[in-house]
Amino acid sequence: MLHGRKQINKRGSSMNDLSSPLAIPAVTGLGEKGLDITLPDGKTHYFNYYWLRDNCPSSFSPVTRERSFDIFHLDVPPRAKTAELEGDMLVIRWQDEDHITRLPLSWLETYAGGKSRHDPADLSRVAWFGDHYPSVPRFSQPELVADDATRAKWIEAMLVHGFTILTDMPDSDEGLTETAELMGCVRPTFFGTYFDVKTHINPTNTAYTAGALELHTDTPAEEFAPGIQFLHCRVNTVEGGDSLYADGVAVANDFRQRDPEGFKLLTEVPIPFYCEHDTYDARSRQYVIELDQHGEVEGLTISQHMADIFDLDQKLLDDYYPAFCRFGRMLQEEKYMMRFLMKGGECMVFDNHRIVHGRAAYTATSGDRYLRGCYVDRSEMRSTYRALVSEGRFKA
Ligand SMILES: [Fe+2]
Repeated sequence: MLHGRKQINKRGSSMNDLSSPLAIPAVTGLGEKGLDITLPDGKTHYFNYYWLRDNCPSSFSPVTRERSFDIFHLDVPPRAKTAELEGDMLVIRWQDEDHITRLPLSWLETYAGGKSRHDPADLSRVAWFGDHYPSVPRFSQPELVADDATRAKWIEAMLVHGFTILTDMPDSDEGLTETAELMGCVRPTFFGTYFDVKTHINPTNTAYTAGALELHTDTPAEEFAPGIQFLHCRVNTVEGGDSLYADGVAVANDFRQRDPEGFKLLTEVPIPFYCEHDTYDARSRQYVIELDQHGEVEGLTISQHMADIFDLDQKLLDDYYPAFCRFGRMLQEEKYMMRFLMKGGECMVFDNHRIVHGRAAYTATSGDRYLRGCYVDRSEMRSTYRALVSEGRFKA
């Protein structure tokens, strides 16, 4: 690579011989608000002076790893006096400040053209269908505790498939806590830090009965419904009670093809959810089908037992209700439905914004069925994954 020491003054005329072909990389112009630079990719990119000054490596504390520079209190807008290349670095001397900024060209390339920063946790999802059970990624809980590389593979499987099964769980209440904390902090809901799923005498939730539980995502009435659900099966000896799971991404992707108008309504019209009892009255509005930053289906929020009265325009409901029902019926098609019997010592871990779950009815007197569950937010999961697999910007 050519790294000539070329300097441009603030009026934009190069101090090099302009009759010779411009070497790459090269600073090609200093403007009033930013500069142009041709980077090793051969393209000329514009960078704003505020951005260049704010992101000078000296702006960040190596101890706290936070930004320590205060751009709000510059006396005048930042402007380069000179900008030159020194080896693989762009060196800027500032006009009204006794400060020099050195930025690696490779670093500039990663942000050129307004590119988003690479995110190792932004992985493509792989949709799965009703025959998925034998292929579900499985991990032994003690191995996750012992080995960070295995833990990274587990979280990667969660990001891609949204559903994993852990085996060899400790048979204790603490076992669930210890497991959830391998991914992040336990996230409380209005049910508390944990919930126990067994039949209750005075149930406050359909889950606490022996009846069938339709496919749903949990606690949609919360403004930010919890992200990852852990369901630790301590014992399951009842007759019936098959677990039902379906991949919302698989169903919604097919719905998008089969019923584009219905898909549009379910992604654009928020509907109300509620959860109300003596001491709580949670309400929120959610989109049934959620899209990510790329416009891809990210997941679902759906729960018939927590759907509030649709307080929407009645003419809109002429179209919305049929679409909602078409999608709800699709969710229950055998093509998508994974059924299996949970075993004691297993823990289901699934993305509560993507995977719908339910349960067939069981006979309460036929044996014991006890599940203990908790949640971890998705941002915690992604944060842990990035820390495990990437160098970040500050690791030595
Ligand atoms: Fe649930």
